[in-house]
Amino acid sequence: MDEVEKIERWLILACLLLTAVLGWAAWDASTQEWEGYQESYYRLALLRASSEAQKEWVRAQPVEIKQLEPKEHRSVERCITCHLAVDNPMFRDAPEPFRAHSSLLTSHPAQRFGCVVCHGGEGRAVTTLEGHGQGNIRAKPLLRGEYMQAACYSCHGEASLSPKAVAAVVRGRQLVNRYLCLGCHQIRGVGGEEGPDLSAVGSNRSWLWLYAHLARPQAIVVGSTMPVFLLPRAEIKDITIYLTTLLDSRDRFRSPTPAAEQRTKSYQGEEPNEEAEKGKENIPENTSAEKFRYDGALLFHGAGCSLCHSIGNRGGEVGPALTYIGRKRKSEELERLLRDPEEILPGGKMPQLYLNDEQIKTLAAYLSALQ
Ligand code: HEC
Ligand code: HEC
Ligand code: HEC
Ligand code: HEC
Ligand code: HEC
Repeated sequence: MDEVEKIERWLILACLLLTAVLGWAAWDASTQEWEGYQESYYRLALLRASSEAQKEWVRAQPVEIKQLEPKEHRSVERCITCHLAVDNPMFRDAPEPFRAHSSLLTSHPAQRFGCVVCHGGEGRAVTTLEGHGQGNIRAKPLLRGEYMQAACYSCHGEASLSPKAVAAVVRGRQLVNRYLCLGCHQIRGVGGEEGPDLSAVGSNRSWLWLYAHLARPQAIVVGSTMPVFLLPRAEIKDITIYLTTLLDSRDRFRSPTPAAEQRTKSYQGEEPNEEAEKGKENIPENTSAEKFRYDGALLFHGAGCSLCHSIGNRGGEVGPALTYIGRKRKSEELERLLRDPEEILPGGKMPQLYLNDEQIKTLAAYLSALQ
């Protein structure tokens, strides 16, 4: 084979490759992420349908944006465009985003309450990152773990829930008193005036912003004269959870009826659901759904890391710069740090962000490559 022929072959191969890549890109851009989830969901639903009538029903379902318009607050929420099975007991064991919700939706029906009152996030969005408040740094990230107590408390108050269900909020309120925050701030008409009124701070700021600001006010608000309290992680977290309960009148909702208050007190988290346990036996093995793939650089920004950390000359200054973090910490150590900051950085301020495994792996790989 002479040289010219060789070059010709390479050119043809390169052209074919390019066509394939462009074709894939065009196809990828034309299917929305949520369409993929709905198609997987209906495939699963068809496998799980136990009668011909159910199968007919599944086949008749259109692939479309689905939304809730919760009655008690003027909003539109599209979480159920992907979380399609929240009220379907056949999906108790399914992978997210198709898992059936716990029985809390029986007392708080989706049609009336929506999802955002309890979970936070961006109701109108139809992508995973944006819906979960990780699309950009100004978004409201989901309330996870203990942070969810803020939502229960802002409707139910303290008296009507079990002490365990609001423990972090109560601790946070006590800390606000202990550190004399009301010397400078007002909450509902009580307190000083050197700093801004905090009565609706939970509506105006995301929990992540409140956390970062408390950790180091001057890194978040240029020229801030708020004192640095040198609080440990657990106290910043509790105060943040308490501040998140302070909502303006638009975001506050009607309180539960007195009869329901009696029942709330005994709530101790999720109880096993017998119906669902029985249903499990006839669910076929194949329950896999496509995994959502995260992008390290996007997630670093969207999950709020860049509010506190810089890479190169971009990002915040609450925590150390991570420009060369890969030289200092290996991927495996970074994973442990992101899973539980207290383990690697005891007594520090880095927040527990309740990231899932996929997110942790993606971020650790991204950071360990920063050499
Ligand atoms: C485009 C599809 C999509 C939309 C819209 C969406 N989600 Fe999700 N959600 C997912 C996927 C996919 C997962 C599983 C995440 C994973 O495995 O990384 C998930 C997981 C979750 C989880 C559990 C895991 C976690 O990250 O804490 C919660 C809670 C959740 N979503 C709440 C919401 C709420 C509330 C909304 C609306 C404000 C919403 N989602 C909108 C796709 C979506
Ligand atoms: C009354 C408050 C409330 C409402 C309303 C609510 N949730 Fe939840 N959700 C919770 C709590 C609390 C949990 C944690 C499990 C438990 O104790 O039930 C949870 C768990 C979840 C999970 C699993 C998270 C995990 O860590 O495994 C997903 C996904 C989810 N909810 C999505 C939704 C969606 C979508 C809606 C709207 C249709 C919604 N939720 C409405 C309170 C609520
Ligand atoms: C938007 C306001 C709101 C939020 C947020 C909220 N609830 Fe409720 N909850 C209510 C109302 C209203 C009722 C009464 C429903 C009825 O009319 O029976 C209720 C009822 C209950 C009940 C009683 C159920 C029964 O058997 O009647 C429990 C338990 C409960 N809530 C726990 C929680 C927990 C835990 C959270 C946080 C994850 C939470 N709620 C978040 C408004 C809220
Ligand atoms: C010596 C007075 C002083 C004390 C004490 C103080 N702050 Fe502040 N705070 C300020 C000032 C001034 C600002 C405005 C500048 C800024 O945003 O950093 C502020 C801002 C804030 C903000 C931002 C509000 C917003 O929406 O912009 C929050 C939240 C806050 N403080 C919480 C607290 C908490 C919690 C405590 C107690 C642990 C506390 N502050 C104690 C002076 C104070
Ligand atoms: C609210 C501010 C804040 C946020 C948000 C935050 N961090 Fe941190 N982080 C810190 C602080 C402060 C430290 C320093 C150690 C300590 O005090 O715990 C730290 C330490 C670290 C370290 C160790 C640095 C070293 O030099 O060893 C890594 C790695 C890290 N953070 C990664 C992340 C990632 C990834 C995210 C996003 C998922 C994130 N952080 C979000 C505040 C934050």
